[in-house]
Amino acid sequence: MKTIPSRTGAIHIGDIADGLDRQLDALRPSGVLLLADENTARHCLPRLGPAFHDFPICVLPPGEAHKTLDSCQRVWGAMVAHRLDRESVLVNLGGGMITDLGGFAAACYQRGIRFVHIPTSLLGMADAAIGGKTGVDFMGFKNYIGAFRAPEWIWIDPGFLRTLPEAEMRNGLAECVKHAIIGSAALWQRLAVECPVPDGQWTDLLADNAQVKCRIVDEDPEEQGLRKALNFGHTIGHALESHFLDKPRPLSHGEAVALGMLAESCMAHQKGLLGEDDFSVITEIIDWWLTPVRTVIPTFAALEPWLLGDKKKRAGRVGFSLPDRIGHCLTAIPATDDEIKQALAWLNHHLAHGPDRPGS
Ligand SMILES: NC(=O)c1ccc[n+]([C@@H]2O[C@H](COP(=O)([O-])OP(=O)(O)OC[C@H]3O[C@@H](n4cnc5c(N)ncnc54)[C@H](O)[C@@H]3O)[C@@H](O)[C@H]2O)c1
Repeated sequence: MKTIPSRTGAIHIGDIADGLDRQLDALRPSGVLLLADENTARHCLPRLGPAFHDFPICVLPPGEAHKTLDSCQRVWGAMVAHRLDRESVLVNLGGGMITDLGGFAAACYQRGIRFVHIPTSLLGMADAAIGGKTGVDFMGFKNYIGAFRAPEWIWIDPGFLRTLPEAEMRNGLAECVKHAIIGSAALWQRLAVECPVPDGQWTDLLADNAQVKCRIVDEDPEEQGLRKALNFGHTIGHALESHFLDKPRPLSHGEAVALGMLAESCMAHQKGLLGEDDFSVITEIIDWWLTPVRTVIPTFAALEPWLLGDKKKRAGRVGFSLPDRIGHCLTAIPATDDEIKQALAWLNHHLAHGPDRPGS
């Protein structure tokens, strides 16, 4: 078991048999409630040690549609029913839906009780459980109600990935690739060598990945500056995800981020920030690892409402987070409409014809 210290909750990475019970005991909780969704209750709960089977459990239906205040009320109801007090601990066993919602429910209950995360999806292990952002969706807006609140610790056990559906793996992989591009040439080297990741290599890869996210959020826990680097690929990615939401073939978050990273890398290259070699290798790895969806990219006009509505906008204009080399990222970079249009045109061409460079 490896431990990565972080201001937003130490991260233990390894087999849960290697001390999960001890870590929970060390918190000396007066009571414990487990939170899971129906899938993680079925697939992941049986892997936890016998002590965990004696704890009461609150099970929610799975999926983003249930990341709501109604679900929080169910959790709070279970907390009251099981007499959780301020010395108690909530154990969140699930993907990002459960860790976001559980963290928020714990942050509000009796003005805040302790919680721990046991992420079970790759996105949860690579991203959502780390960094202390909690929250729920509200009136159709993602993560509109929430709080910055760190778990006591996070336990990442790649063994949970064995039951995760393939489509869900891609969502997490996209974030690993993003972390490598914005923050770690070492993680990049790992990704450049082997795809898919052999079973035994996940621990090292997720440890390198967690180092990147921890370094960024520890320096900027409340997203005042550096943390915006994590938005690389997400400005255009979110716009694409939103545009395709009501189309016959919606994009998953990971698919949208993969396309967003391609377009935003192109923008970084066109602006003269990212050199030809790095741009070329970034597109190759994204093509190899994330097999971008061969879809027709909508026009700038069609995406504009979402680009303008993006939370990262500065003074009415979108501020992009763009890599200037592999392992480093600049934030709040303005882009003109024409630059965005060119990047979208290149992406369309790239998806239709393969890896040609802009202007070629
Ligand atoms: N807090 C943050 O910083 C942050 C960062 C990124 C994403 N998020 C949030 O994370 C959420 C998405 O996370 P997600 O992709 O993990 O979604 P999710 O929690 O909905 O999990 C995806 C699906 O996989 C299932 N699942 C999870 N682990 C499993 C396992 N081991 N075996 C079988 N099935 C399993 C779940 O039941 C669900 O059906 C979004 O709500 C997003 O807003 C938060």
